Amino acid sequence: MKIDIITVVPELLESPLSHSIMKRAQDKGLLTVRTFHLREWAVNSYGQVDDYQYGGGAGMVMMCEPLANAIESLQKEQPYDEIIYMTPDGSTFNQSAANELSMKENLLIICGHYKGIDQRIRDMYVTREVSIGDFVLSGGELAAAVVIDAIGRLLPGVLNDETSALFDSFQDNLLAPPVYTRPADFRGQQVPPVLLSGDPKKVEEWRFEQSLERTRQRRPDLLEGQE
Ligand code: ADE
Repeated sequence: MKIDIITVVPELLESPLSHSIMKRAQDKGLLTVRTFHLREWAVNSYGQVDDYQYGGGAGMVMMCEPLANAIESLQKEQPYDEIIYMTPDGSTFNQSAANELSMKENLLIICGHYKGIDQRIRDMYVTREVSIGDFVLSGGELAAAVVIDAIGRLLPGVLNDETSALFDSFQDNLLAPPVYTRPADFRGQQVPPVLLSGDPKKVEEWRFEQSLERTRQRRPDLLEGQE
């Protein structure tokens, strides 16, 4: 999968995407992430990419022309399956959106800053608007890193144990069960005996029950219409 990102602060994306599983995905050639500084398509020699908003009010707006030129010149290299704009007024990202996006080949992500991007760019080019939650970040970069991480780990071959993403929280609209490692007795706190039983069927049943119970208690909304 290839993901291109248009940003005014590429530095914010560097660290989250160059360690651990995201690094492995890129080293293995399963994921290619490229960042493009919007300034490359600035309208003047000052590198201007934002301007005052019509109608007045505090905060700058990212201009149409640099964004349109950036999008169109990148599109000439390859068509995109989706052009995504990171914004708090987008639809809330979740595991099912991650699953869906992980099946695409080429994505372009636009990170907003200041007051956001001119509405006409959203109308003309953007195919999906994504929020990572009901709070406002200073820009779309950290949100984009979150989305790319969630998608990238789902790509076949990225996780060592291919099956492990299948048991993540949310994969079946259930939260993940509790997990334990050695020692079996930690300061008098015991690992549930079933996990030491060596009976895979019993372990699976127990994990499913725990998932269900945890979901009932913490996120009953996930079970609505299912039970
Ligand atoms: N940009 C600023 N806040 C955001 C959010 N919550 N989700 C996505 N992009 C954003």
